[in-house]
Amino acid sequence: MNTIQEILLTEEQISTRVQELGAQISADYQGKDLVLVGILKGAICFFSDLIRKVSIPVNVDFMAVSSYGSSYQTSGAVRILKDLDLPIEGRHVLIVEDIVDTGLTLSYLKKNLLSRNPASLKVAALLDKPERRQVDEHADYLGFTIPDEFVVGYGIDYAEQYRSLPYVAILSPSAYLGS
Ligand code: PRP
Repeated sequence: MNTIQEILLTEEQISTRVQELGAQISADYQGKDLVLVGILKGAICFFSDLIRKVSIPVNVDFMAVSSYGSSYQTSGAVRILKDLDLPIEGRHVLIVEDIVDTGLTLSYLKKNLLSRNPASLKVAALLDKPERRQVDEHADYLGFTIPDEFVVGYGIDYAEQYRSLPYVAILSPSAYLGS
């Protein structure tokens, strides 16, 4: 059964956009103490590609968060599975996410990290699904705005599968409707 319906973003499209974002971030944070915070697991591909396109010195760290309840629908309650190792007080922090969907994860993360008094806090996200938004959140650095489709690949999973695809694809409904 072919579970990929359509390739939405090719490797080349992603690579070109990530390079542009890296250049923009490098210019904006020139001379600043920048910590890039990757949000596990979905951001793994975007994070590892992006940091290699950022030409200024940076620190990297990770957080892992999980929404309570069903994995299919974000409930809004978030728990920290892995916290930062590095202190961020007085430092410039850039959250690196794969996707902003309802915005609930980002809303929680921003509140949490702001309470640690960073010098600034911004967000880089590869994908934005504005149709799904429940809270007023946005990425300061955005790769692509996408329609409300079930996407996988380039770090993004369905039931822990498909993360290793080098592109972003729309999953066939048959893959999650079981037919
Ligand atoms: C995904 C994604 C974001 C969040 C976005 O993570 O990586 O963190 O959901 O959704 P929201 O805007 O509706 O909050 P997920 O919980 O699927 O975990 P994963 O990154 O480990 O796959």
